[in-house]
Amino acid sequence: MPTALIILAAGKGTRMNSDLPKVLHPLAGAPMFAHALAAGMSLAPDQIVLVTGHGAASVAQAARAIDDTIEIVEQSEQLGTGHAVMQARDALEGFKGDVVVLFGDTPFVRPETMQAMAAARADADIVVLGFQAEDPGRYGRLVMNGQTLEKIVEFKDASAEEKAINLCNSGIKMASAATMFSLLDDIGTDNASGEFYLTDIVKTGRERGFSATCVRCSEAETLGINTRSQLAEAEAIFQTNARKAALENGTTLIAPDTVYFSFDTLVGRDVTVEPNVILGPGVSIETGAHIRAFSHLEGCHVGSGATVGPYARLRPGAELANDAHIGNFVEIKNSVIGEGAKVNHLSYVGDASVGAKTNIGAGTITCNYDGVMKHRTDIGADCFIGSDTMLVAPVTVGDGAMTATGTVVTTDIPAEALAIGRAAQVNKPGLARKLFEKLKSAKASKEKET
Ligand code: UD1
Ligand code: CA
Repeated sequence: MPTALIILAAGKGTRMNSDLPKVLHPLAGAPMFAHALAAGMSLAPDQIVLVTGHGAASVAQAARAIDDTIEIVEQSEQLGTGHAVMQARDALEGFKGDVVVLFGDTPFVRPETMQAMAAARADADIVVLGFQAEDPGRYGRLVMNGQTLEKIVEFKDASAEEKAINLCNSGIKMASAATMFSLLDDIGTDNASGEFYLTDIVKTGRERGFSATCVRCSEAETLGINTRSQLAEAEAIFQTNARKAALENGTTLIAPDTVYFSFDTLVGRDVTVEPNVILGPGVSIETGAHIRAFSHLEGCHVGSGATVGPYARLRPGAELANDAHIGNFVEIKNSVIGEGAKVNHLSYVGDASVGAKTNIGAGTITCNYDGVMKHRTDIGADCFIGSDTMLVAPVTVGDGAMTATGTVVTTDIPAEALAIGRAAQVNKPGLARKLFEKLKSAKASKEKET
């Protein structure tokens, strides 16, 4: 059955107290709505429609960066969840299949749950995702009659008897596009909020002879984010799950609670991650690599057997081949570090390539920026770059070349050549002793004065 996703993301998120639209607040390194989108992606949808409103332009931009086939519709006035879904009608003109409505602020729905909803569609025209709430609070209540869902009552409109129900509406719903849009035509705003409630499709649907049921999931899956505290809570839940999954998949975490993962982190077997490491978006780490304490990685790939840190920073585009060594206080950006190459101490390597087995000495810097443009540094294999070498890009260093300590490299170095570019040393006999005497007597006379 073809499937389309409708993701509701028009709400303001007033309680976030933020200039940023709520659904763009990052959770595990991705905008909040991207998590709901990922859950929906497990149904391999044929079409995705995102309903934007507050901050529509920036939400649209973020969505296109993730998937440029996402169709964006704007709900210029937020008249309720039912009204929001109606905005997707034109985009889904001619679509014959099921629509799944997801909320952009509900990030933790599992793919298995989405599959269970799709399976339940075999027996019901309308499928609603519900959960047994510890404290049902202000959630909508699901009124069941055996396996049949009769209606959903919003808290504001519920009788005392209905408020006592603790089977709640997650908000996520599934029906054929034809059923969904035809039922939405019938709903009104005659309720405590004066809004078009999406939830009303159940009652209207039942009156028109459609069947409706509820698939249940855990309360943790339906956590909705409305405040920064809930965002922090959601982040903590994500991290707890990610650490547990990493440990189960064969990663050693010496102090799991101090390691932070992103939504897309990939870590191979027998990787060790020491305490206080942050893995930002886009990190993959191969088997047997070792990430030492206090390192910060994002947008990078760490090859098998490589070591990183302590106190290393790998920025986007850092690509470490197998067995590369990146040491303390080293920053790598947009650079390939070849197999077995070493950058062990206090260096910046940016917009560069470093060949296999090359050793980059302490304090080496690729001077990649001239104040206006970035330039490349290409260093061959088996080179020895002496400590404190400044490589003024664009520049290339041939295989097997060397640079003398303190060299400022401004022209290309041929293979196997030694480059020395520094002022020649002059020794002045006895001059140090004389200078010391002069300075000490100057200090003594100054002390006498005071
Ligand atoms: C909704 C449900 C409620 C359920 C709860 C679960 C309705 C009427 N109520 O209530 O039964 O228990 O979610 O969290 O559906 N949105 C729009 N445009 C609008 C209104 C909302 O895009 O005009 C979006 C919001 O950005 C949000 C989602 O829809 O992502 C839910 O809206 P919200 O106002 O938070 O609904 P609740 O009152 O929480
Ligand atoms: Ca809500």
